[in-house]
Amino acid sequence: MQERFESIRQSLDAVGQSHVLRHWGSLQAKQRAALLAQLQELDLALLVRLTSETDEAAPVDFAMTEPALFRAIGDPSLPSFRAAGEEMLRAGRVAAFTVAGGQGTRLGWRGPKGSYPATVVTGKPLFRVFAEQIAAAEKRYGRVVPWYIMTSPINDEETRAFFQDNNWFGRSPRDTLLFPQGTMPSITLDGKLILESPCSLALNPDGHGGSLRALAASGAVEDMKARGIEQISYFQVDNPLVKVIDPAFLGLHATAPDSSGEMSSKMVRKRNAAEKVGVFCHHAGKTIVVEYSDLPRALAEATDPDGMLRFAAGSVAIHAISVAFVDRLTQGDFALPFHRAKKKVPYYCERTAATIEPSEPNAIKFETFIFDALVLTKQSLLLETSRVEEFAPIKNSSGEDSPSSSHQTQSNRNGAWLERFGTQVPRRANGDVDARIEISAATALYEDDLMPLAAAEQLPKRIVSDSDAVL
Ligand code: UD1
Repeated sequence: MQERFESIRQSLDAVGQSHVLRHWGSLQAKQRAALLAQLQELDLALLVRLTSETDEAAPVDFAMTEPALFRAIGDPSLPSFRAAGEEMLRAGRVAAFTVAGGQGTRLGWRGPKGSYPATVVTGKPLFRVFAEQIAAAEKRYGRVVPWYIMTSPINDEETRAFFQDNNWFGRSPRDTLLFPQGTMPSITLDGKLILESPCSLALNPDGHGGSLRALAASGAVEDMKARGIEQISYFQVDNPLVKVIDPAFLGLHATAPDSSGEMSSKMVRKRNAAEKVGVFCHHAGKTIVVEYSDLPRALAEATDPDGMLRFAAGSVAIHAISVAFVDRLTQGDFALPFHRAKKKVPYYCERTAATIEPSEPNAIKFETFIFDALVLTKQSLLLETSRVEEFAPIKNSSGEDSPSSSHQTQSNRNGAWLERFGTQVPRRANGDVDARIEISAATALYEDDLMPLAAAEQLPKRIVSDSDAVL
């Protein structure tokens, strides 16, 4: 151990970071081993580069940035692409992929985000919502849809325990594969590594862009290839309305003549200029996403002559990605650019010998974003979807994108589905459904699945105001 320690100490010294060894003398053998293991994983050359530069992401020339082109809802070509997507599903070529490695600090939920009770009446956790959709798709298309879930070192164990406690939601664990993403060290505002305890560094998950590398490093890509999987349906853990498997989108992505079949995305029209979603733009011949925090206010607020937002294509963080693309990108020394964010990171205080939760941002976290892979495609497609059909994320504890806003959107979607088949649904003056309505994917994976139930008169004739309905 002494030899390893010496060599690491020298390397850290050379880059002005050896302060992280200052408690070495008082550490026990196990603690020393843990710290050395963390330090050995560090890419010091990368750290030096990141501490000496500003944001790595290629600067966007906003004078050359145009709104992105997209296939609108109701595009007449969609039904034929749906058939192509269904063919892919019947051939067993599609996998589902959830990124669930985030820390979920804004929601204030103590467990992994996927264990959050998300549905409006029975409070099914997010992971169960996705599992039920996948089960319904497997039944419909007669093939297994393997489900890959990216965790992080912070929540991997708890996430596995949650799946175990829930009997893997009735799935085979062989077809439900969890793997942790990588981490990056947080640094102080003046570029120093941070200790969260005398024997451990403050590390944070390396962003959902880390999923590309993690898919390859964990063996998931090899596993997909062995199973004959060609396309990955990618979505975030926070959106209970996501269509986990959308044949039309998958078919469009994989077979449209103007798609490279590498990576495509879904969008909704932004609610207003201030909505916190990334925006799809057209820049230097490619579709890119500009994160909400990076979009200049003048552009965010710019309108067309008809008063509509000019940059309106909001990212719902749903993508279709080919296995071949992930494989190609992750060969060699591929890296997505790092974005930096000022955050509150707990640190070890020697004076009080305790870990302190700061009240103000004290550190910089480095993350990569999956949408930065879009510029690496030859061509990528964008499909508009309806907010009420597919976007009800749970991010904050109250207000926008909270459990209560998500519940309302879930009821609005389910109410609209029932109305189409003749159920009378109460609505408030603002159009919101005035009842809590939940429809399980086992009952209807897609809206049309209610048709046979309507024909058999198994749908409610009327839903009473302020009541609960579960189908
Ligand atoms: C994200 C998108 C935004 C998009 C919005 C839609 C980013 C930077 N922004 O915003 O463009 O419009 O969602 O809802 O992504 N995650 C990991 N590992 C990580 C970090 C995050 O797996 O290291 C996962 C989280 O578990 C979550 C998702 O990525 O499922 C979103 O992460 P978050 O950082 O909360 O992004 P948002 O600010 O919500």
